[in-house]
Amino acid sequence: MPHASMMRQITDFANRANPYPVYEELRRTPVLHEEEDGPYLISSYYDIKALLHDPRISSDAANLAAAGDDALDQTEETGGLPPSFLRLDPPEHDRLRRIANGAFGPPHRPRRIESMRGQMRDIVTELIDGFGDARQIDLVDQFAYPFPVTVICRLLGVPREDEPKFRTWVDPLVASLDPDTGRGADDTDHRKTAREARMQLGMYLAELVEERAREPRDDMLSDLVNSRGPDGAMTMMEVLSTSVLLLIAGHETTVNLITNGMLTLLRHPEYLRRLREDPGLSVNIVEELLRYEPPVQLVPQRTCIGDIEVRGVTIPKGSRIWLVLAAGNRDPERFEDPERFDPDRGDIQHLGFGSGIHSCFGAPLARLETQIALSELARRLESPRLVEDPPPYRQNAVLRGPRHLGIAFEGLR
Ligand code: HEM
Repeated sequence: MPHASMMRQITDFANRANPYPVYEELRRTPVLHEEEDGPYLISSYYDIKALLHDPRISSDAANLAAAGDDALDQTEETGGLPPSFLRLDPPEHDRLRRIANGAFGPPHRPRRIESMRGQMRDIVTELIDGFGDARQIDLVDQFAYPFPVTVICRLLGVPREDEPKFRTWVDPLVASLDPDTGRGADDTDHRKTAREARMQLGMYLAELVEERAREPRDDMLSDLVNSRGPDGAMTMMEVLSTSVLLLIAGHETTVNLITNGMLTLLRHPEYLRRLREDPGLSVNIVEELLRYEPPVQLVPQRTCIGDIEVRGVTIPKGSRIWLVLAAGNRDPERFEDPERFDPDRGDIQHLGFGSGIHSCFGAPLARLETQIALSELARRLESPRLVEDPPPYRQNAVLRGPRHLGIAFEGLR
């Protein structure tokens, strides 16, 4: 029987810089239930994958609240907006996701993401030029943070001058997704701030959506609000909660992939050198990063809506489940030499974007952003090195990444 507080060890900030020994220990009991009212922790690659495809596992926020997870209670979390499709089951999930996809990717908008390549490169160039004569930067504040928020705002059609406002709203919303927050002494404050931020963001977007309904432009918000396909139209409230979802789901995650990416490359300089010589290597590097240092470490928002047997253990209906993606990604049952960062490995079918019906909607965007960001940083920073290793981390155990990443360099190419 492993240590009785594995769940606490995962959320314990002391393990944030290197949670992988905890995951290794966790995998010894692939289905772990430590406390009577606590969640079942699933850590093997194959079990996680199977459960992500199992219709008896619900993402519905109402089921989670019924299972006793009041910290993630539906009304608390949504701040007046209906739940987004991330927190819904079929058929509602599928209907909303299909409509959203009509505004985002193939077959209706096959070039929407690819056509942003030039814009993304320009934003990256501007940010790197902005380092000026500095010989040391904080990659998080000066690069990784502003980049994806700018891209998602442009994709949706948010005016540039409003972009800074998003950071003040998005921060508390992201913090509220952490299973470790919302349960301490400052419990009520946390939830209140998150709810208020969501409401402000909602109100701002409502105005913008009305504008786009009257005068559509070539942006995703206009497509979302004016879509009239076989699935019908989204209501105004559905457009709002979908837009808030896209802003939140695509923000901190991409910041962390870029930051974890540079940190890993600076720890493995041979790949930084190879990337500088061959930007095409960024494709494999990004996939291996999603396996080796995934920005979403675990999915804590699932409930069983029927009894499920996993490895001889019956998980009863009504139980909560944590799917520890980062543990599955380093499962030796699935990957050879899993603790090694190896972008040359032939098969990198990671769980970094989840799997099944809720698998990451924004994956093509996140991939392209990170490939461009890392290859440009590798190309332009002269002799980069880490200022501090390990860097200081954020509190969040679910969306894990450094709070700052100091990089010193000799100049810009
Ligand atoms: C590196 C960056 C990213 C990572 C690691 C990531 C990871 C994930 C994961 C693991 C899930 C599954 C959650 C679950 O099963 O409950 C997910 C879902 C989702 N992601 Fe991402 N994501 C990233 C970027 C983005 C971007 C850029 C967007 C939007 C523009 C986005 C939008 C979404 C949405 C809407 C869902 C919900 C899908 C559904 O419920 O059907 N993500 N993401």
